[in-house]
Amino acid sequence: MKKVITYGTFDLFHQGHYNILKRAKELGDYLVVGVTSEKFDVDRGKLNIRDSLATRMSNVINSGFVDEVIVEEYQGQKVSDVQKHQIDVFVVGSDWIGKFDYLKEYCEVVYLERTKNISSTKVRNEGKIFRMGLVVDSFVESQLIVETKLVSGLTVETIYSQNEQAAEIYANKEEIETYTADYEEFLQSVDIVYIADMKIEAECVKTYIEEAIKNKKHVVCGMQLLRKEAEVERLFELAKSNEVLLWDALPSGYLRASEQMIWFIKGNALGKLRGMNISITCEMDNLMINTPRKAKYLALYFVLKIFGLNIKSISSHKTKDYETYYLITNEGSVYIQIGVGCKLDDRIEVVGSTGKLVMKEDWWNVRYYKIEEYASKRIERHSSSLDGNGERYVFQLLLQRLLAGTIDGYRIGEEEVKSIINALNLMDN
Ligand code: CTP
Repeated sequence: MKKVITYGTFDLFHQGHYNILKRAKELGDYLVVGVTSEKFDVDRGKLNIRDSLATRMSNVINSGFVDEVIVEEYQGQKVSDVQKHQIDVFVVGSDWIGKFDYLKEYCEVVYLERTKNISSTKVRNEGKIFRMGLVVDSFVESQLIVETKLVSGLTVETIYSQNEQAAEIYANKEEIETYTADYEEFLQSVDIVYIADMKIEAECVKTYIEEAIKNKKHVVCGMQLLRKEAEVERLFELAKSNEVLLWDALPSGYLRASEQMIWFIKGNALGKLRGMNISITCEMDNLMINTPRKAKYLALYFVLKIFGLNIKSISSHKTKDYETYYLITNEGSVYIQIGVGCKLDDRIEVVGSTGKLVMKEDWWNVRYYKIEEYASKRIERHSSSLDGNGERYVFQLLLQRLLAGTIDGYRIGEEEVKSIINALNLMDN
């Protein structure tokens, strides 16, 4: 019996997929198909997969050409699959010519011509395109535009600034066709308003958000820009009644690795939680953490997720170089140090009764952490690949929600933003 294998994501199953499976089957008697897992796709930068693994697998089976379906979970799996399933022919589309020649050592490798004019990406983009507009106050080098380009179905349409010249400079530098200093006109041409981290007054930010929501536009914004709990509550209410989303732009909240790490801790990996130590440097040229308020918001987000923010007392101490805060919460104690005028050794430690978790450097990206178990002295290391600065994940989830037509399903919702803003204000008083 001649066995053939092929692989793919098979998202939004289309004619090209059908054709390649048909032709692959014709090359032998038994066809095995490897469908990529969600994690594998994210790791290799395919971020916009619409169908679940289960749907993609059942679509592959329903083609009628397939004898066995397996899941492709990691780089380098193909060689072991070929050996394990005693494969004679490996088939893939011509977009991969040359890439799989290394398999020739184990089986025949056939590149089949792709079906013209169709791809999952094309099907995805033929759906609705969401137009985003940026509210800015000046041009600052950032990854934002690059990140939005990685999210299919999203396009940056226009730029708004109170200062028309600033909008023009931004638009020219980022090659965006239109810009304006007229907020009403701006709102008419977009579906989503993104409020970049700005130096302008909190009052202004509030007005931008309010006007956008009243015009039924979704808003993505760094919530640290908001000042009061009551204000947060009112804006979320307004968003709800206008059936739009008010979406926190904090990338850490959308990283798969950060979610996993939090569940890991909740799953008792450290025993009973005792305390957290956090240090973070605030630098003007690091857009992720360019103000002390943003640094605090970020630190508090992790405290909230890991520990909860039931604060009993806060003491603080400020010098020209540091701000230090000591929070006593119902769950334990939290020490936060913000470097304002000097560089700190950025790290976060979560201390439990049986072990501690440590992340260093740009810990808010959750690229790498280790868990040390006190008794056995065992160290467990976890790492994840994060491309870019994580902003693409903020937009990716937003688009998923919008396409599903839901105005719920916040990753960082009203109650969470309120708790953080409340804690932030207590720290600043
Ligand atoms: N394929 C094909 N002809 C097409 C599209 C895909 O022959 N028009 C083949 C690919 O070469 C691959 C398999 O189908 O061998 C699975 O491809 P996949 O990456 O899942 O599909 P794409 O449509 O290329 O997906 P995307 O646009 O997300 O890259």
